[in-house]
Amino acid sequence: MASVEGSRTPARSRRDPERRAPRQDKYSVLLPTYNERENLPLIVWLLVKSFSESGLNYEIIIIDDGSPDGTKDVAEQLEKIYGSDKILLRPREKKLGLGTAYIHGLKHATGNYIVIMDADLSHHPRFIPEFIRKQKEGNFDIVSGTRYRGNGGVYGWDLKRKLISRGANFLTQILLRPGASDLTGSFRLYKKEVLQTLIEKCISKGYVFQMEMIVRARQLNYTVGEVPISFVDRVYGESKLGGNEIVSFLKGLLTLFATT
Ligand code: GDD
Ligand code: MN
Repeated sequence: MASVEGSRTPARSRRDPERRAPRQDKYSVLLPTYNERENLPLIVWLLVKSFSESGLNYEIIIIDDGSPDGTKDVAEQLEKIYGSDKILLRPREKKLGLGTAYIHGLKHATGNYIVIMDADLSHHPRFIPEFIRKQKEGNFDIVSGTRYRGNGGVYGWDLKRKLISRGANFLTQILLRPGASDLTGSFRLYKKEVLQTLIEKCISKGYVFQMEMIVRARQLNYTVGEVPISFVDRVYGESKLGGNEIVSFLKGLLTLFATT
C-alpha cells in the first residue's frame, strides 16, 4: 500500500498545475478614506513595512470619497513614491458610505485575500501577519479582529462611545446570535470569493455593513476565526460615526431580525 502511494505521488504532482506554477497568495488591502490627510502617509508606510518584512505579495487600494481636506492629493503622492502596482487610488466623487466603499474597492482588487481596515491608525498593520497565520491554521473563510475577546481591547474612547459599541454588539448578539465576539469591528481578512458572495447579499451602506456581513457569514456557514486586536482611538481627525449611523444601525439590525 505504502509503495503504491509512494510511486504514484510524484507522477501525479508533476501533472499538477499548482506545482508547475505555484500561485503565490496576494493580499489586497482596502483602505476607505474620508478626511484622512494626516493619517494616510503613516498607515501606508506601516503597511508597506509590515508586508515587505513578511515577504508577502500585496497591494493597497485607497478608496477616497472626495475628501475636502485633500486626502486624494496625498494618495497620489504615495502612489508615486511606492509605485502604482502597490498603491492603487480608486476614488469616488463624493461621500457615499463605508459599506459601498468596500464594494467599490473590491472591484479593483487582484489579490486572492482581502484585508479591510480603517485608515486612521486605529487598526495597526502589525496584526495582519497574525490574521494570516490564523487563516492558514484553520483555512478560515474570514478572520475577524476582535476587541471583545482575549487580549483585545479599546483605548481612548470615552464612556459614550464605549456604550454605543457595546450596546450595538449586545443587541445584535441577543437578536441574531451570530456567534462572533466583535460584530461591528472593521479589521478583517476575507477569502476574496467569500467577500464577493457576502457583499452581493448585503443591503446596508453605512457602518452597519460590518455587522450584516458577519451575520450573513454565519447563515452561509462560512467559518470565522478570531484574533484579539487593540483598537486605539485616532489622534488626527474626527470619527465619521454620527447619530445617522446609529439610526441606520438600528434599522439594519431590525431588518435583519425580521428577515432572517
Ligand atoms: N471612502 C469612505 N467613505 N471612507 C469612509 C467613509 C465614507 O463614507 N466614512 C468613514 N470612512 C473611513 C474613515 O476615513 C476611516 O478610515 C474608516 O472609514 C473608519 O471611519 P471612522 O470615522 O474613523 O470610524 P470610527 O473610528 O468612528 O469607527 C470604528 O469603529 C466602529 C465601531 O466598531 C470603525 O472601525 C467602524 O468601522 C466600526 O464600525
Ligand atoms: Mn476611527
